[in-house]
Parts: sequence; C-alpha cells; structure tokens
Amino acid sequence: MFKVTEVMISEEQLAAKVSELAKQIEKDFQGEELLVVGILKGASVFVADLIRKINLDVNIDFMSVSSYGNSTESSGTVKILKDLDVNIEGKNVLIVEDIIDSGLTLSNLVAALETRNPKSLKLCTLLDKPQRRKANIFVDYVGFVIEDKFIVGYGIDYAEKYRNLPYIGIVGQE
Ligand code: PRP
Ligand code: MN
Ligand code: MG
Repeated sequence: MFKVTEVMISEEQLAAKVSELAKQIEKDFQGEELLVVGILKGASVFVADLIRKINLDVNIDFMSVSSYGNSTESSGTVKILKDLDVNIEGKNVLIVEDIIDSGLTLSNLVAALETRNPKSLKLCTLLDKPQRRKANIFVDYVGFVIEDKFIVGYGIDYAEKYRNLPYIGIVGQE
C-alpha cells in the first residue's frame, strides 16, 4: 500500500518560497501588466497562492493540456483540452506549473503559445526534477530543485488524490 511517509517541503517552507518567487516576478514586471496562466490541475494550488503575493496588475487564466509522445519520442505535441480565454498577442505571459519532470508538457506548450506572438513568455515552476528531463527548456522562476522521489500534495496528485495536502509529501510503501 502506498502512503505519505515523509514531509519533503513543509507548509511554512512553501509559503516562504511563494513569497520569494512573487517578489522576483514583481520586480521583473514592474510597471507592466501580466497574464498569469495556471496549468490545470496540478498548478491550481500554487498559482492561487502565488498571485496573492504579486503586487502588480495581474490577470489570470488557465489551460488544460495533455502531452503526447512521452515514451521514446523526443518531440511530442500538446493537446489543448482547455485553451486560454484571451488573445495573448502583445501580452506578458507567465506560465505557472507545479512541477517539471520530462519537460515535455511545457516545451510543447511554449512552442504552441509562441506562435501567438506574446510580448514575453516566461515560465515559473514550484518544483523542478532535472533528473527526469527529456526536453531542454529554460525555466525563469524555479521554487525548489528536487530529487526524483515520488511526491504528492499542494496540487500534485497520485491517481487524482492528495492534491489537497497543504505540504509536499513523499510517498513510500507501507
Ligand atoms: C503533471 C504536472 C505537470 C506535468 C509535468 O501534470 O502537473 O503539468 O505533469 O510533467 P512533464 O514535465 O513530464 O511533462 P499531469 O499531466 O499529471 O496533470 P495534472 O496536473 O492534472 O495532475
Ligand atoms: Mn499538471
Ligand atoms: Mg497528475
């Protein structure tokens, strides 16, 4: 049976990091408008906390995507299940993810959104697992670089469960 056996990142550590990332974003977009795009469903918790710490003119939108070509294919495409409500041409766009593993979701999404000619397109992820990377992507804002452990919580699921845990937990076998 799988169970959450350990806390990897506590609620307090998460809150401190969210504030730190928000401050960096605020500084980089001073005097600008910003469209924050959360990627459903994993990023929902993080993005909700993050926007409340960004003191700028912020709009928020969401996308839901599913990645193809995870196995051996190096260049997949991304299927957009829920697209943005707004046209991003000429806008500053910040994509917010909970975690980057292979990087395929984001690299495909970035390629798709670049064709819409935003003013700028930046990436923010709470967690980064570089050991699992298959697609090379530059991430502008990274919360924590973590080891390749089986984790859940703060939006991240295991079989759609545990998203509501207020911390990042490690799943182990009991
Ligand atoms: C997870 C996670 C990222 C993506 C990262 O989402 O939230 O969006 O996978 O993986 P990658 O870097 O290997 O592409 P998932 O597809 O499980 O959907 P969810 O957010 O609804 O859980
Ligand atoms: Mn996701
Ligand atoms: Mg998932």
